[in-house]
Amino acid sequence: MEQIYRQNILSTSSVIDAIYARRSIRSFTSEVVDADLIEELLKAAIQAPCAMHEQPCAFVVIQDTPILKELSRDIKEHFQNQAKNGNSIGAHALKIINQDHFEAFYNANTLIVVCSQFSSRFTDADCWLAAENLMLAAHAEGLGSCVIGFAVDALNTNKWKSRLGIPQNAQAIAPIILGKPTGNPPSVSRNPLTIYSWKALALS
Ligand SMILES: Cc1cc2nc3c(=O)[nH]c(=O)nc-3n(C[C@H](O)[C@H](O)[C@H](O)COP(=O)(O)O)c2cc1C
Repeated sequence: MEQIYRQNILSTSSVIDAIYARRSIRSFTSEVVDADLIEELLKAAIQAPCAMHEQPCAFVVIQDTPILKELSRDIKEHFQNQAKNGNSIGAHALKIINQDHFEAFYNANTLIVVCSQFSSRFTDADCWLAAENLMLAAHAEGLGSCVIGFAVDALNTNKWKSRLGIPQNAQAIAPIILGKPTGNPPSVSRNPLTIYSWKALALS
C-alpha cells in the first residue's frame, strides 16, 4: 500500500529533477534529522535493485555528535599513519586530512552507514545502489547528503565495528552524512559523455 502511494506521488519528472538537482552537501544547520524520516529514507534505500535479490544491506545510524567527532579523529589518524608508512593516499586527500580543522563529517549530526551483511560478487554494488536511492530520497525530502569515502577504512576496524554493532563478517560500504543544508551549492559540471560504442541496426 505504501509503495502504491509512493508511485503515485513520485512522478518520473520529479525523479529526473532529483537526479539533476542533488549535490554533495558539506554545510548543515544544527537541526537534527527526525527518526521517522530516517526510517523512511532507509526504506527507500532498500527498494534499490540487488543481485539475485540477496538483500545484503544493513544500516548503522549515528546521531551522537561526540561519537562522530571521535570517528573523525580516528579517520585523520588512520590516513596520517598510512602516509607515514609510505602508503600513497594522494596529495589532494592528504592536504584535506592535514587541515587543522579537518572534520570528516562537516559537522553533520547524522551519519548513515550502508553495510553489507555478507560478501559476494555484487554486494558492494547492491549497497551503493541503496546509497544512491537514499541520497535521492533525502534530496526529495529537502535534506542534503554527501558520501564520506574517507570513513570506510576506520569504520571497518575492529574498534568501530564492535562499537557500532557491525558483525565481524559484515562490511561498512557507504558512509553518508545527512542534514538540513545551509544553502544550495553550485552544480558540479560533468565531463562530456564517453560512449565506447553504440551498435544499432541501420534503418533502410
Ligand atoms: C565513493 C565516493 C566517496 C566520496 N568521498 C567523499 C569524502 O570523503 N568527502 C567529501 O567531501 N566528498 C566525498 N564524495 C563526494 C564527491 O566529492 C562528489 O560526489 C563529487 O565531487 C561530485 O559532486 P556532486 O555529488 O555534488 O555532484 C564522495 C563521493 C563518492 C561517490
